[in-house]
Amino acid sequence: MFSSRLPAHLAPNRLAKALEAHRTAGRPVLDLTESNPTRAGFDYPPDLLAPLADPRALRYDPHPFGSLDARTAVAKEYGRRGLAVAPQRIVLTASTSDAYSMLFKLLADAGDEVLVPRPSYPLFDHLTQLDLASPRPYDLDYHGAWTLDLAGVERALTPRTRAVLIVSPNNPTGSFVSRAELDRLAALCAPREVAIIADEVFADYELEEGSASRAGRVAARRDVLSFALGGLSKSVGLPQVKLGWIAVAGPDGLVASALERLEVICDTYLAVSTPVQVAAADLLARGATVRDQIAARVTRNYHHLQSAASAVPACTVLRSDGGWYAVLQVPSLESEEDLAVALLQTDSVAVHPGYFFDFPRESFLVVSLLPPTDAFADGVARVLRRFRTP
Ligand SMILES: Cc1ncc(COP(=O)(O)O)c(C=O)c1O
Repeated sequence: MFSSRLPAHLAPNRLAKALEAHRTAGRPVLDLTESNPTRAGFDYPPDLLAPLADPRALRYDPHPFGSLDARTAVAKEYGRRGLAVAPQRIVLTASTSDAYSMLFKLLADAGDEVLVPRPSYPLFDHLTQLDLASPRPYDLDYHGAWTLDLAGVERALTPRTRAVLIVSPNNPTGSFVSRAELDRLAALCAPREVAIIADEVFADYELEEGSASRAGRVAARRDVLSFALGGLSKSVGLPQVKLGWIAVAGPDGLVASALERLEVICDTYLAVSTPVQVAAADLLARGATVRDQIAARVTRNYHHLQSAASAVPACTVLRSDGGWYAVLQVPSLESEEDLAVALLQTDSVAVHPGYFFDFPRESFLVVSLLPPTDAFADGVARVLRRFRTP
């Protein structure tokens, strides 16, 4: 009765079950998987969402790409980051996930391929398959810093490849795609008519100084059809408000053709609410106080993790240039899943095993840098004490 776009197995995994049981039993958890900023103890100004009640939103005047005012406000965000993007090349969406769905509809027929980084955001399997595209992995390699395996990208390209997805900075590796990497990727993609989709939702969050300025930005490209994705969910810590965007770049003719077709898709759904469009400029401006708090906390927690782990020779914090996550390499004394379950049941600390993100081998733990610093430090201490030599 149901379509094969959905996963064959819907049962929760062992770790999710253990977490549920732990919570049902009323046991406290130091949750180092928390990725929802609205639950991480930041000070949101109580009237932050007041612009959503603007009476201008009482009038419904839909446009497939969103109101020009809201698109102009997003274009200004690119200006803040030193990139000139015309508001006419901004397409509003209800979230980044929605933006992916629009782009897969634009670019891919059933069975066409999209190259996705590995390790990366676990939702890519669902996001591609729900739109009938096939995800094909390419690797990110670690050697003191993360780089794209561009030879691997080239090998993974087939006549059915429609897009290469990059995440910069990536979740969970924290790696920005450098300007040189992006140039080489564009040189692979442009002649094959393969688009680049760049998820830049974490672009405002730099953990290692100077990394963001070394990153390549697709919104400035003129040689390959490219789509940069962003949204309020990460840029101002408001995932519940549901506003994302796509900045379209590339050769003018291709950009025009893509926008014409995106217009049909967006017009079919008109998914972005009027109140959020009316409020967009204010939310982007006022949300800066939340962004600043998040940026300060993730940096502080990242440095805390580095210093705490430096006292435990068996564990290594992988270099993370930006974003909200860090990766801890630990000895493979048991499987990642056994370790994560044991940390939960014995130490009441929740972490993500690396395999959730498709790390090629064990053992890696992924921790969110969002939790309040005291709780974060306590959780990290509990993880590390397992690996201390007596
Ligand atoms: C890489 C990446 N892209 C997109 C998203 C989701 O963004 P949105 O809430 O706008 O759909 C996340 C959320 O964690 C993410 O890690």
